[in-house]
Amino acid sequence: MSVKIGILTISDRASAGIYTDKGGPEIKRILDDWLTCEHEFFYEIIPDDFELVKSKICSFADNFNCDLIFTTGGTGPAVRDITPEATEDVCDKILPGFGELMRFESLKFVPTAILSRQTAGIRGKTLIVNLPGQPKAILECLTPIFPAIPYCVDLIGGNFITADETKIKIFRPKK
Ligand code: MTE
Repeated sequence: MSVKIGILTISDRASAGIYTDKGGPEIKRILDDWLTCEHEFFYEIIPDDFELVKSKICSFADNFNCDLIFTTGGTGPAVRDITPEATEDVCDKILPGFGELMRFESLKFVPTAILSRQTAGIRGKTLIVNLPGQPKAILECLTPIFPAIPYCVDLIGGNFITADETKIKIFRPKK
């Protein structure tokens, strides 16, 4: 079965066409490079609107049966930044370790890493992960968390994810 991956760019300006979204395509580029399993993407750019973010996450999870959803943007302290709250609102369980690890590792690159409130959680059989909006932050955040993602998706009943382990390691306990 093809692994289904939702990519949601959350940005008032990118959705209005004021600038071109670079975060969404960067997520796709990295995953195309790492994944060896068959996979497909669902990609949308939307404004920082609480109800819209919730409904898109739900639609990717419930209607498109995404195994994974990555959001990019809207995790900071600005008034319009609501991505983590919208994520938490639609999740059955929160996985705070994802945000903790991403902030910890990101601090090695930028002191402003503590400004991101990024988190992750589970909705049904879907793992949802918030990434910051800066395109360079995508690789900085995905690299430390990715090794635990395939096993997490196994545990919630999603599709089997494999990767080129010369590029990125996967940790899956042996049965
Ligand atoms: N994390 C990494 N790895 N690299 C970055 O450049 N930028 C930080 C932080 N986390 C950054 C990062 C900054 S400047 C902000 S304001 C927050 O993420 C929130 O970004 P967002 O609102 O675009 O999600």
